[in-house]
Amino acid sequence: VNNEVRQLLTLHEKAAKLYHHILLNTPAGQPALKYLKKRGMTDELINQFNLGYAPDQRILKPFFEQQKIEYQLMRKSGLFSEDQEGKLRDRFVDRVIYPIKNGQGQVIAFSGRLLDTSKTELPKYLNSPETPIFNKRRTLFNLDIAKKTARKTGNLYLFEGFMDVISAFGAGVTNGIASMGTSFTEEQVSIIGRTTNQLDICYDGDEPGQNAIDRAIGLVNDHRPPQLKIKIVQLPAGIDPDEYIQKHGAEHFNNYLSSQEETTTDFYLRFLRNGKNLNNQNELMAYLNQVLKVVAYVRSPLEEDMYLQKLASEFDLDRQTLKIQLKQVQQELG
Ligand code: CTP
Ligand code: MN
Ligand code: MN
Ligand code: MN
Ligand code: MN
Repeated sequence: VNNEVRQLLTLHEKAAKLYHHILLNTPAGQPALKYLKKRGMTDELINQFNLGYAPDQRILKPFFEQQKIEYQLMRKSGLFSEDQEGKLRDRFVDRVIYPIKNGQGQVIAFSGRLLDTSKTELPKYLNSPETPIFNKRRTLFNLDIAKKTARKTGNLYLFEGFMDVISAFGAGVTNGIASMGTSFTEEQVSIIGRTTNQLDICYDGDEPGQNAIDRAIGLVNDHRPPQLKIKIVQLPAGIDPDEYIQKHGAEHFNNYLSSQEETTTDFYLRFLRNGKNLNNQNELMAYLNQVLKVVAYVRSPLEEDMYLQKLASEFDLDRQTLKIQLKQVQQELG
């Protein structure tokens, strides 16, 4: 490990400690602490994830200058924004701080959340920029902890947001990860493939969440590490994992995860209905053609037959006819 990397890691370590201290032990941190408590964050979770608060006053720069940290190092850390004259200012201001760690548990970046998003145009979450120690495309929030749990459970849960990962952790689901606000990447797929054999995707139960599931399945299928299987856990409409846990509690959440798990094919049976009126014959035909393209990739004949049975009984169709149609679709796909 070169010297610069080590120094950047040290800066992040120091910044994380400072933000955490401000949250817990200073008057400036009280509104943020209250905010987190209101969101169901316990002291244990706040400590486990080393959550912090970056106050209104800019404090990181004087803190580092006092310790004689070099300008160039501060500049490269991503913890500051830079004006045209090269003057640095704290990047994170009046935000709850979520430290982001690498697979070894070292802090490599931060995400900062506004306490109140109602009267501002500022982004809800602000992340560190790319730096020599932070590559967004390769980073998964909570991977350092989740991979240990995954050795026992055999699976990882992929959530959309940091708060989902943290609330799930509080509910005993410690094998949750999240991508970095940016969409899920190929690099993250391959890291997951090296960590576990099963990925359960549990995104928000809204339209963007469903579209993101569709995209994530495509990405995994395109870059599929040999034994990685995917399952989907679809949340109720309009609710995310964190909200589900706050509303229904840990036990219901755990039950939900294990009972609502579905195959990617079942996901597409639902997903492809969106925006279609299946009482209309043309739209039903379009739906069946799209669905059969998905079923065409099912490898087990028994499973294939189950999907055909489902479609046949729901739409009052002949299963044999569906089967013939499926063979045609398979031939067209090659
Ligand atoms: N995100 C982001 N910038 C935004 C909104 C979202 O980077 N302006 C990223 C964050 O990583 C966030 C994830 O996208 O965790 C999912 O977005 P969303 O569901 O809107 O946020 P939540 O995780 O539900 O955040 P919260 O519960 O704190 O509102
Ligand atoms: Mn602590
Ligand atoms: Mn969302
Ligand atoms: Mn959400
Ligand atoms: Mn949320």
